Amino acid sequence: ASNRTHGPERPLAHLTPSVGWMNDPNGLFYDNETSTYHTYYQYKPNDTAPGVPLYWGHASSEDLITWDHHGVALEPKDEQSGAFSGSIVVDYNNTSGFFDDSILPGQRIVALYTEHSNISESQFAAYSLNGGYSFEYYEQNPVLDINSTQFRDPKVFWHEETERWIMVLALSQQYKLQIYSSKNLTSWEFQSNFSHHGLLGYQYECPGLAKVPIVHESPSNVTLHGLNSTTNATAQTNATSVDHKWVMILSINPGALTGGSFNQYFIGDFDGKTFTAQDSATRALDHGKDFYAFQTYSDVPNNDVLGIAWASNWDYGVNVPAVDYRSSMSLVRNLTLRPYNPNPETTEFTLYSEPLVNYTHLHTNQSIHKTSLLLDSEETVSYSLGKDPQGLLEFSLEWKVNATAVTSRHDFADLSLYFRGAEDDDEYLRLGYELNAAAFFLDRGNTEVDFVSENPFFNNKVTQNIETYKIAEDGLPILKVRGIIDRNLIELFFNDGSSTSTNLFFFSEENYIGAVDISSGVDDVYTILDFKVKQMSLK
Ligand code: FRU
Repeated sequence: ASNRTHGPERPLAHLTPSVGWMNDPNGLFYDNETSTYHTYYQYKPNDTAPGVPLYWGHASSEDLITWDHHGVALEPKDEQSGAFSGSIVVDYNNTSGFFDDSILPGQRIVALYTEHSNISESQFAAYSLNGGYSFEYYEQNPVLDINSTQFRDPKVFWHEETERWIMVLALSQQYKLQIYSSKNLTSWEFQSNFSHHGLLGYQYECPGLAKVPIVHESPSNVTLHGLNSTTNATAQTNATSVDHKWVMILSINPGALTGGSFNQYFIGDFDGKTFTAQDSATRALDHGKDFYAFQTYSDVPNNDVLGIAWASNWDYGVNVPAVDYRSSMSLVRNLTLRPYNPNPETTEFTLYSEPLVNYTHLHTNQSIHKTSLLLDSEETVSYSLGKDPQGLLEFSLEWKVNATAVTSRHDFADLSLYFRGAEDDDEYLRLGYELNAAAFFLDRGNTEVDFVSENPFFNNKVTQNIETYKIAEDGLPILKVRGIIDRNLIELFFNDGSSTSTNLFFFSEENYIGAVDISSGVDDVYTILDFKVKQMSLK
């Protein structure tokens, strides 16, 4: 394998390691001294499969689209160990005593992570004196050890109300999320268990707890803070008008109903000691196959809840096609709680996710915009996406459904999009909606890549129920989807992000998507109200 930094299939706008193996995002924080987002990740630099020694790799970005790579940031204590998943906080007030005045408050960076070996998992602290590029290890590690081999993935944050640091981590194989608190980041006091909630699977991993703003109106474009934000964290903290709920995030693996790895969440309240879920429901953070170990960024301006996930699945993540690096992250998403109607009889809050796509570094090579198109079954509408596709696309589709025009229940009443390869159009992604199922589908199986047909865990077809977005003036339901396709990854956002679906797919080398076909199995049922596609590349 060559040591090229831009393999043909490397996603353009998603974080990938320059070489080696990557899994969970770790230590995410925003440095407001330099307006930089830092992202660390589980990293095995000299191999494209996981194993010990396992490190934290490090990348940074100002725009969340282009990343600078900084190699290894944190090391395990020996060759048989792993610096497993964990988080970073900014210790502005030097509660830890790790810093002196020479370190700017916004760069008093403390990492809390799991030191893993075959005989133990305990929590370690490390701190950085140079803005997160390298770390010193706390001399009295571990900071938390309960004599367990399955005790990991601390997510730490500052809890304003009780003026304590809070740690949530997984006592993985007892299905407990444990909450600890601390005044100094080094001595931790047990507070409570959040036990046996949601889908259990084999084990709990990578929990998170976040204070998520409630937004009552429909989503507008989120600005990317640090680039064009005028508000600052202090102004926001003093605002009283923002309602919040606490959201507990939980990863399980294996054990997803769709196979392998899965991220779920619970909505509730947190008083500094105990998280209390508002109901007994578990909800999916993403409905796709490839979205795991989601973690939020610390210290984001405006208290926005931004986070990122590992865009893969332990069922096959080690086996996906790769040359010199393996796996990528999702795009960074902004989370809010908004009311929605899963069906006509219920209104409740759900987490909305909106991807942060910063267009300043993206060049649009070709764009298509269509409105008012009534589909019939005889005709396929085709659009070319230009001569030189680079594999990065964004699209959005809003469509209206006239179910009364369906004449036979024998028909497959779909609206389908076929995103076809430019070099070989027998390779395509098919996605769309079918009104009898009232669900959206994605089929990633139409490809010549052997891995896709040969790997029994890599199932091709993924589906997702979708609620009505709004009602048109003529009384008919309207639905909406936005998608970002980046070489071998597709992220779908339904109805402004009330649900999402993130999935890997694989086409033959350099067969990037060059056209899209729209068709329907029925006549006069679907009206495309608005369809946009942009074919983009990095500037
Ligand atoms: C989740 C996980 C974590 C662990 C890390 C090891 O994907 O198993 O629980 O800390 O990966 O790389």
